[in-house]
Amino acid sequence: MKHITCIEDLRLEHKRNVPKAFFDYVDHGSYSEDTFRANTEDLQKLKFRQRILVDIDRRDTSTTILGEKATMPLICAPVGSTGMQYGDGEIHACRAAQAFGIPYTLSTMSINSIEDLAENVEKPFWFQLYVMKDRGFIKELIERAIKAKCSALVLTVDLQVIGQRHADIKNGLSVPPQIYNLKNMIDFVSHPAWLMRTLQAKRRNFGNIAGFVKNTDDLESVSQWTASQFDATLNWKDLDWIRSIWPGKIIIKGIHDIEDAREAVKVGAQAMVVSNHGGRQLDGAPSSISVLPGIVDAVGSEIEVMFDSGIRSGQDIMRALALGAKSCMIGRAYVYGLGAYGGPGVTKALDILRNELSTTMGLCGVNDIAGISKRVLVQ
Ligand code: FNR
Repeated sequence: MKHITCIEDLRLEHKRNVPKAFFDYVDHGSYSEDTFRANTEDLQKLKFRQRILVDIDRRDTSTTILGEKATMPLICAPVGSTGMQYGDGEIHACRAAQAFGIPYTLSTMSINSIEDLAENVEKPFWFQLYVMKDRGFIKELIERAIKAKCSALVLTVDLQVIGQRHADIKNGLSVPPQIYNLKNMIDFVSHPAWLMRTLQAKRRNFGNIAGFVKNTDDLESVSQWTASQFDATLNWKDLDWIRSIWPGKIIIKGIHDIEDAREAVKVGAQAMVVSNHGGRQLDGAPSSISVLPGIVDAVGSEIEVMFDSGIRSGQDIMRALALGAKSCMIGRAYVYGLGAYGGPGVTKALDILRNELSTTMGLCGVNDIAGISKRVLVQ
């Protein structure tokens, strides 16, 4: 991996190693991809103040996230179907994140189930919940997360209807799926290492919903069940019900508006993630970084504000922290590493981000995470 020096290198390696349908699933945004592009572009518009002759020899990226120690202010975000990028991808990614000392979030739509992960990793992980129409299923899912000792529930609230991604439909990741067409089959067999790992993985279906759909090996029934289950009626009142089942920490993910941020505080969440789902949902929404300062001003003293959507470097992490985020989630940045090299690729992504963050802190004259504020940015 010596030739890998940045996240973009991992992205290109991921593209080479994984069939097009699955790489495209990660690498795109919804509709015109306006918001997807704005997420990365607007982060880069924020410029740093270069400071000199400050003793920066004690630089330390460690922090606390929801009261727990972490080696840097970063969390692996929930990413659906991670196991399609690399066999048992959720297990590999979670192990890498935990060895590095940061939290990992398992998606409801993961390939490895909550139980698969609990059996194969050392420490508690976070569980992300999509609240679906079948509330019996959701209750059971939360109870499974409790049994697996998950340490936080990440409630994703920006996917009551699904934003369309053109590439997915064209590649056959549609409802019903057309994935087993000739073009994809040729592509699958021309990635033999990927194919072998996928076939040998513990699971090749959606582990968390197995049992609820009669046959999870039948992709058509899985996709139809899932698509019919996203609940357009979900609203703030449903949070009371979730609270009555889940006793632990709740993180509301998908906040993009000050009024919603205030509601999230009222319902007693411990944290929120300012996120537009990596530009995969409301196309035409502003970039996530552009709405962060207003939300931090409104609620930052009452709740832990996390940030995601567009982070591709340690510089980006620094920018989000400078605008008031306490920590950041990454989706694509670690999945590119996973698709490229499995667990070591995730570790490589995290190493790259930490080194970039540490160097940027130094060149801005900052020694620790608490020292990062608006003052590191050119106003
Ligand atoms: C996601 N995201 C996501 N979020 C979630 O709550 N549950 C999920 O199952 C998924 N699935 C998913 C799949 C893929 C391929 C991507 C890229 C993203 C959103 C994710 O948690 C996070 O908000 C974004 O990835 C952040 O943007 P960046 O870091 O990818 O730019």
